[in-house]
Amino acid sequence: MILVTGATGQIGTVLTEALRAEYGQDNVLATDIRKPEHPAGLFETLDILNTQLLKELVEKYKVTTIYHLAAILSASGEANPQRTWNINMNGLLSILELARESGLQKVFYPSTIAVFGKTTPRINTPQHTVMTPSTVYGISKAAGELWCEYYHNRFGLDVRSVRYPGIISYQSMPGGGTTDYAVDIFHQAILHGKYTCFLEADTRLPMMYMDDSIRATLELMRAPSEEIKIRTSYNLAAMSFTPAELAASIKKHMPDFTIDYAPDHRQAIAASWTESIDDQDARNDWGWKHEYDLDAMTLEMLTQLKKKYNHV
Ligand code: SER
Repeated sequence: MILVTGATGQIGTVLTEALRAEYGQDNVLATDIRKPEHPAGLFETLDILNTQLLKELVEKYKVTTIYHLAAILSASGEANPQRTWNINMNGLLSILELARESGLQKVFYPSTIAVFGKTTPRINTPQHTVMTPSTVYGISKAAGELWCEYYHNRFGLDVRSVRYPGIISYQSMPGGGTTDYAVDIFHQAILHGKYTCFLEADTRLPMMYMDDSIRATLELMRAPSEEIKIRTSYNLAAMSFTPAELAASIKKHMPDFTIDYAPDHRQAIAASWTESIDDQDARNDWGWKHEYDLDAMTLEMLTQLKKKYNHV
């Protein structure tokens, strides 16, 4: 049985569905503090800080693998730093400890471009580099990566991780991140033909279409253990763009679309991250290859969301 934490979140919603398609509807237990809008299979409400319940669920459902997605993201995390640290760090520590105690086969832990900071090389950020995150989210993920490697080295736990860029999806909405504009812009373009962006026009960030990030996750977890040479977290890349470039890509299909800019506190977070990522290690070690670039992603987002909003 596979257990997913944070299964109602942006990635969790789509990953749970993909895992059910691959491993069987009854072999994936979704958990989250929030119930899904349309429950489609096994679901248990779980506060990630409730270690006792987590343990009971692992025993009851004979869980062998955990995808631990529950976390508070970069922007919303700043509202309550102590709580963010508690949820992100203690959530991971109980998963790792439970995995060790119960002899779980595998754990997946998502890391992020938010582990990088102002002193990190900005262009083609290397796999092994300076990590000086400025958000509590980034600090917790950087520490989390080290804890994953520690549990692998010390206890032989098969824990695997990628540093996701900003993820763009039509199926689910992001919540509380700095890259969320790149999803919202599509909804606003279709509903209102215009968008006010909370980042500046030229803020370049690494991004990825959801399909690619799900495939990366499944491929990483399927790879033979000896191919996984990095046990902190793999750099992972597909594309990098600015809000102005994304708007230009949307305009190719919607010539009347307009964008303006009203940067808020999230601009400082985005400015502390890097622009593009060198993910050669993921490509070499377990064969990572992205499919979607900016224009392919834009076309797919517009097509899917038009269907969703019946604007066909
Ligand atoms: N999308 C995330 C955020 O913006 C980055 O990991 O917080």
